Amino acid sequence: MRCDRLWKGARLATLAAGRPGLGIVEDGVVAATDGLIVYAGAAADAPAGLDAAEIVACDGRWITPGLIDCHTHVIHGGDRAHEFELRLAGASYEEVARAGGGIVSTMRATRAASEDDLVASALPRLDALLAEGVTTVEVKSGYGLDLANELKSLRAARRLGAERPVSVAVTFLGAHALPPEANGDKDGYIDRVCAEILPAVVREGLADAVDGFCEGIAFSPEQIARLFEAARAAGLPVKLHADQLSDLGGAALAARFGALSADHVEYTGEAGAAAMAAAGTVAVLLPGAFYFIRETKQPPVAAFRAAGVPIALATDCNPGTSPLTSLLLVMNMGATLFRLTVEECLAAVTREAARALGRLGEVGTLEAGKWCDLAIWDIERPAELVYRMGFNPLHARVWRGR
Ligand code: NIG
Ligand code: FE
Repeated sequence: MRCDRLWKGARLATLAAGRPGLGIVEDGVVAATDGLIVYAGAAADAPAGLDAAEIVACDGRWITPGLIDCHTHVIHGGDRAHEFELRLAGASYEEVARAGGGIVSTMRATRAASEDDLVASALPRLDALLAEGVTTVEVKSGYGLDLANELKSLRAARRLGAERPVSVAVTFLGAHALPPEANGDKDGYIDRVCAEILPAVVREGLADAVDGFCEGIAFSPEQIARLFEAARAAGLPVKLHADQLSDLGGAALAARFGALSADHVEYTGEAGAAAMAAAGTVAVLLPGAFYFIRETKQPPVAAFRAAGVPIALATDCNPGTSPLTSLLLVMNMGATLFRLTVEECLAAVTREAARALGRLGEVGTLEAGKWCDLAIWDIERPAELVYRMGFNPLHARVWRGR
């Protein structure tokens, strides 16, 4: 069997379903043709006569699936370093938001930026992620908060995938916060999102999913339910910023709509975990935000495990609660802050992150038929990827076979 490219002499963490743990293969081979994996497994079991135009000797390095950051807000104008200083002086995240800072201050900077500006300011953040082996990234809108600026943000997000060799999943987050011109009328704004903004987003094919923020400082479960009805009518899957600062039953609401994921979920209770398990909704934990706003309520990891809720981890890269661009550090935080195991952390940024994007059929494990997205590491054992802080052992990144 002849293929385009062959990586040999590697140790594989395939993360493949049906294999125990990380799906480790000691003397492993990955073969790709037309950007797709045609074989990933033991050299001894490889198809007879496996050969390639280009053979890469891996010298015992480890290969994992390319990492997936399944929750980011890398498209945004400005920064919130000043609010960080206010919080250091004692203000809480909610106090800053209610005083006109928070998401609305980033909204102003985002509206003032051109589409080109938004792309240009996001690229260094994206590049930091790619430098650690990320091959798929989710990018949300949510700082435009009106028709023109949400469309501009989504177009900028889509363009990231043309600017760099990375797969970009774009999520419409128009229901992120109430813009000031809505004068406190949350119901009226949700009406506009459903009747005007979302249809325009769908017409331009700008979003792969719809997200919202269900919280006292954002939108109620009833308002989010209306948004999700509109998403369903438009044929788009949903996800939700749920139960981050309080338990409004957001995770259960997301599950009721068959959401791909419920994200943050610190305040989710057992009923929410059970509903997520039944719906197959992934819990996306965001330890960067937990750390940065000094949250103390732990997400219910034990309940997620007991119920069988898949767990993903992501950076939540955003200017307000998680100015973080390292998925390796996120794994360390997932282990240290939330007591996830090494296997859980690695699955959380590969297989389970793919599941949280509805892309498990395409990426997230080393299996024939998926895109050949690889991260090749200079490490002795997979635990090193979780254990170190601020050290990047990436040797090479492969996106779609290159
Ligand atoms: O994921 N929770 C809501 N949205 C973001 C924060 C956005 C911001 O503060 O700019 C988050 O934490
Ligand atoms: Fe977020």
